[in-house]
Amino acid sequence: MPDCERLAQDIGSAREKLHIVEQSGRQAAGIVKDLLTMSDPGMYEKKTVDLNRTVQSVLAAPDIAEMIRQRPDLRVETALLPSPAWISGSEPHLARALVNLLCNAIHAMDARKNRDASTEMRLTLRTSAAKVDQPIVGYEVIQPGAYVVLEVTDTGTGIEPPVMEKIFDPFFTTRSRGAQHGIGLGLPIVRRVVKDHGGFVDVRSTVNQGATFRLYLAAAGAPAVADRPRTAVHGETHILAVDDEAGARHVAEFLLQRLGFKVTPAKNGHEALKFFEDAKAQGVEKPCDVMMLDMVMEEGFDGLTTFEHIVKLYPAQKVIVASGYAPNGRAKVILDRGAGWLEKPCGIPELSAAIRKQLDKN
Ligand SMILES: Nc1ncnc2c1ncn2[C@@H]1O[C@H](COP(=O)(O)OP(=O)(O)OP(=O)(O)O)[C@@H](O)[C@H]1O
Ligand SMILES: [Mg+2]
Repeated sequence: MPDCERLAQDIGSAREKLHIVEQSGRQAAGIVKDLLTMSDPGMYEKKTVDLNRTVQSVLAAPDIAEMIRQRPDLRVETALLPSPAWISGSEPHLARALVNLLCNAIHAMDARKNRDASTEMRLTLRTSAAKVDQPIVGYEVIQPGAYVVLEVTDTGTGIEPPVMEKIFDPFFTTRSRGAQHGIGLGLPIVRRVVKDHGGFVDVRSTVNQGATFRLYLAAAGAPAVADRPRTAVHGETHILAVDDEAGARHVAEFLLQRLGFKVTPAKNGHEALKFFEDAKAQGVEKPCDVMMLDMVMEEGFDGLTTFEHIVKLYPAQKVIVASGYAPNGRAKVILDRGAGWLEKPCGIPELSAAIRKQLDKN
């Protein structure tokens, strides 16, 4: 019997457990999504996917970005292959698997933190290439082949050996109580997705130190240039992204690149100003098409101060003010001079619309 059918049967026989979902509309929606992930072969359109991009877009997705933002102690580190990590697969399913791993990692770190407030919360996402010549006995036996490995490491509670045996069983959960109770579908879905990508799962864990989940996904060659994910659709439109928060800057940079823009990041107002001063010194007429400007930056050199210096050099510079706060006070001064507005955190549609609007202005 195909795994998918077996899983459907498991779900059928354990249907009574689903009464839990009634307690939370949001969770119910998530489960429906999970079930669809497993049972809708039509969604499984395989393309050449750059796994590095999947990692970056999952981190930038509003739900995940919010989960990270709510935990100021949580450090998120990425160590991605320098070149694209090509695999043949379905991006929504891979993203779903990664989201499930990230949620588990964050829950495990929350649980450990609840016991000992001094523990460090560190989440590491890594992509790497692996050529396996001899079978590796991991959680599963990893067969010889060329893989892209997606690794998620946390500093959470870790997994006790008897629990380890069951973690991929549908409806197995140790989070049976409290506000963050689980259903036990996260990891079965991960395994399902990995299997459908010709892959294997490995898990390592030390109790009270954390866990590492490694997904071995069959590597693919680079796609023909015409089939590559969209780049440069906007030609050489150049955006200067000014934000003093590294995470926000990286997300902006990633999203803008994904939209096909050329991006120059600036880590504060001084760096942005230097960019324009250098351009002026070289006689450049238009250093960038649009400047995306964070409002709240260092004391004495915030968004408005930066703006005022720059418009002295380039009075026609198009600007989008990006802020997590309401558009009043100092931001309003810039907006009144024709700048666009973008509320942070934002997704690709809002970002794209805000830039389009500025570019379309005379
Ligand atoms: N990173 C991790 N650290 C520690 N334990 C983990 C980790 N990931 C999974 N587990 C264990 O595996 C169990 C099953 O995980 P799974 O994602 O399938 O279900 P869940 O997280 O309990 O519920 P949900 O359906 O909401 O994902 C968890 O309840 C937990 O005991
Ligand atoms: Mg889970």
